[in-house]
Amino acid sequence: MRRIAAVIAATLLPLAAVFATDITLAIADDNDGAQLNPCAVPNEIVGSFEETAWRIWVAATCPVNNNQYPYVVWENWIEQGQLYPTDPSQGLKVPNSGATTAVHVLHSSPLTLSRHPESLQQGLLGAPNTNCNAANAPPPPNTAPPDNSNPLTICEEVREGGTTEDYIAGTGLWNRANQAAAATDSFDIQFPRPAVEIKADWIQVSTIGNHNFNCSNIGQTGLIHVETVDGSCFALAGMHLISKLIDKWIWATFEPQNTTTNPFRCEVLGCDDRFGSKPARSNGSTTSLTSELKKLMDAANLAPEWYNYRLDGVQTDFFRPKLLGSSIIEGENVGMPLTQASCISCHAVSSVRSDGFEGINLLTTNPVGFPQPLPSKAWIRRDFVWSLGLACPNGPHNSMQAGSLQPDCVSTLP
Ligand code: HEC
Repeated sequence: MRRIAAVIAATLLPLAAVFATDITLAIADDNDGAQLNPCAVPNEIVGSFEETAWRIWVAATCPVNNNQYPYVVWENWIEQGQLYPTDPSQGLKVPNSGATTAVHVLHSSPLTLSRHPESLQQGLLGAPNTNCNAANAPPPPNTAPPDNSNPLTICEEVREGGTTEDYIAGTGLWNRANQAAAATDSFDIQFPRPAVEIKADWIQVSTIGNHNFNCSNIGQTGLIHVETVDGSCFALAGMHLISKLIDKWIWATFEPQNTTTNPFRCEVLGCDDRFGSKPARSNGSTTSLTSELKKLMDAANLAPEWYNYRLDGVQTDFFRPKLLGSSIIEGENVGMPLTQASCISCHAVSSVRSDGFEGINLLTTNPVGFPQPLPSKAWIRRDFVWSLGLACPNGPHNSMQAGSLQPDCVSTLP
């Protein structure tokens, strides 16, 4: 009898354990969020989409080191360049499995270069701004001197959170041959929850207009996160954040309130953030943080400059809202009118053909609203993720990697 009871108890134990975890989670969900760990990326929608976007941003911005790179959590996520090896025949080897980790590596914007290949800035080899690009719509106070010798230069990086990295590594989609096979099989690429990505644009401060800006004085026109990379000062002027907590992802973009680096913040489309900003709607004037967001930032122990970042807005469907874009990332850097910017509509075009041909070639306009159908059954979409376009090895024509760190994506590189 005792033996049977023991057996039953043993069989029930795992179930009981699972049940207990569920209860704990359920209790955590019922809280108004105040007791959630501010440095853990939420696994589900908390309150509104704006609140959820902020909670992800705050968790990703939690401090790592005070005085040295990496400063914040997202800087420890893998950079997309490390996920798409130049020579796929050697396999994928990411930094935590023994590949060399560079210091803070920045690069050009593939979207900008796909439209303006001439804006590539070939700086000194090895310098942080090597292969960054000139802004295509620098605002009047920041325009280059007449001889164009020192154009406003913007560097970029894309960080993929652990779930995103695992999915790309585990499905083999880092390799274009596997993407081609996926298209042949009509495979449904679906990133799992809670996949996140951040795309960050850094302005090289010494290239701003006819001023003498550097890391010690750029904060005079509004606090902004700066880093000195290899002797040059860079200011973090734009951050895109996407999260797979809903099927079409949550699309959010953040900018600092700095009139020198971000003179057109919120001016074209207006900003709208009922969770974090007082007032919620604004058109370029300075706003305050709501006490709720300030409390969250306090709890996460963020460095002072992060309190000066604002959410431009959140997009969650093709018409919700119809337009969203960053004055820096799409505006100044790519040079596209924000009246044609829709994160979700442009990302819906990310696709690949069964022979590996890259979908960036379909991006001949700035799509807004519902996506166009793909050209034929030989194509599949890539769950809105453009970074998959960096996968090789089909060479420069089939990859969108025009001229950045891995110029050709061919295995014959030295
Ligand atoms: C006109 C097209 C277009 C628009 C509009 C656009 N993007 Fe992108 N985005 C791209 C392309 C192409 C890439 C890949 C190349 C690169 O990193 O620049 C990209 C890259 C990204 C990445 C990194 C990697 C990835 O896997 O896709 C994120 C995150 C991102 N965009 C978010 C956004 C958000 C948020 C918005 C709106 C606020 C937005 N994008 C608007 C085309 C667009």
